[in-house]
Amino acid sequence: LVLGIDSSTQSTKALLVDAETGQVLEERRSSHPDGTEVDPRAWLRAVDEAAGPLLERADALAVGGQQHGMVLLDEAGEVVRPALLWNDTRSADAATTLIDEMGGPQASVEEIGSLMVASFTASKLRWVRDEEPENAQRAAQVLLPHDFVSLHLAESGTAPFTDRGDASGTGYYSTREEAWKPELVEAALGKNLELPRLPSAPNEVMARTASGAAIAAGTGDNMGAALGLSLGPGDVSVSIGTSGVCAMVSDARPGDASGTVTGFADATGRFLPMTTTINASRILEAGRALLGVSHDEMAELALASEPGANGVTLLPYFDGERTPNRPHARATLTGMSTSTTREDVARAYVEALLCSLADGITSLEERTGTAARRITLIGGGARSRAVQQLAPAIFGREVTIAPDGEFVALGAARQAAWALAGTEEPPSWEISGSRVVSAEATPQVLEAYRELKERTEGWG
Ligand code: XUL
Repeated sequence: LVLGIDSSTQSTKALLVDAETGQVLEERRSSHPDGTEVDPRAWLRAVDEAAGPLLERADALAVGGQQHGMVLLDEAGEVVRPALLWNDTRSADAATTLIDEMGGPQASVEEIGSLMVASFTASKLRWVRDEEPENAQRAAQVLLPHDFVSLHLAESGTAPFTDRGDASGTGYYSTREEAWKPELVEAALGKNLELPRLPSAPNEVMARTASGAAIAAGTGDNMGAALGLSLGPGDVSVSIGTSGVCAMVSDARPGDASGTVTGFADATGRFLPMTTTINASRILEAGRALLGVSHDEMAELALASEPGANGVTLLPYFDGERTPNRPHARATLTGMSTSTTREDVARAYVEALLCSLADGITSLEERTGTAARRITLIGGGARSRAVQQLAPAIFGREVTIAPDGEFVALGAARQAAWALAGTEEPPSWEISGSRVVSAEATPQVLEAYRELKERTEGWG
């Protein structure tokens, strides 16, 4: 048996899985405080609660976790300050400074595979250097959230470790050289830090628990989901959660100096170019709250309107947006007439979410030069009936709806099973219960959205 753990922004999930078949035997979860700045020890309490009772039954385990978070430890391994998470934007100016110091956007892509943004760990280090010099002084090691949780589960005395997928979101790892760039840590923080060990193969056993179970490298949540969904080259996952993530498995190393597509590595030796919006589930939530209805009623309302919502279009950058890079933007709703209905408004919200994701898919296709082979919807927002029905119409192609499942934790479990088996390829696990949906394409909806996006360029 193998144990897969997902230490996400809001909670920790643990799955006990049959290593041969991928069948989930037991699932436990525990919530922990969420936000943008969190005491990382809360994740350890949550993992003890969620995974603790399953640990003894597992022969191997791995941890997937929210990407990018900065966990600073001192010489003694004590937490220096609360972790700054992927969704904390205070380091936006620091990211711009680091790009300038590297020699501009293209140089950033050459050095680290992506354009540095506020989410990346390096920009957070720079922020600490500028704003909290005493913490910069005290820091001796920097870990990612999943590394910190893995280390907690390992026998005492284990040196920290990570994987190339999560490392590729730090801003001090080269996806070209497949190695840390300590000089970028020094450039960010003004001093060197101890960095976690990297595996030499994606299925390496990196450590053991006190009772001898193997611990694999773990990975970032998006890389974990790709592994959990068994995505192959050209396959795209569209995850509608707190963030809206479109990710494509790619054999080629992507690069995009505009910052739209981040050029991450995956957990298998390939790459995982990705677009990440910060307005995803919250679009549905904002619409539901505005209309004073439940999520189900919101879906009913949206499906009762027409494609294009009778002329109503929403650009959903409610509290600013990361992709496209409009951190100070607000949402715009246009095209209302005196006959606009609640149904039209609900429809405009759902269409806006899907158009924003369609832009992500298009960007991935343009950057990789590869047409998406299969598009799979996952995440809480993908449970909406309206999202499921309208996605193929707006994406203009069939869409696979994944069954309910914890795919990050499942991906971590699959990595653990791979490490246990020591085989060339990860074990093939069937995912039962996927549904393929198709619909007549409605390209006019995306056209109206893109027109509004262009028209509001420069508004914030
Ligand atoms: C990806 C990103 C988010 C977090 C969420 O770049 O910032 O998807 O990984 O956990």
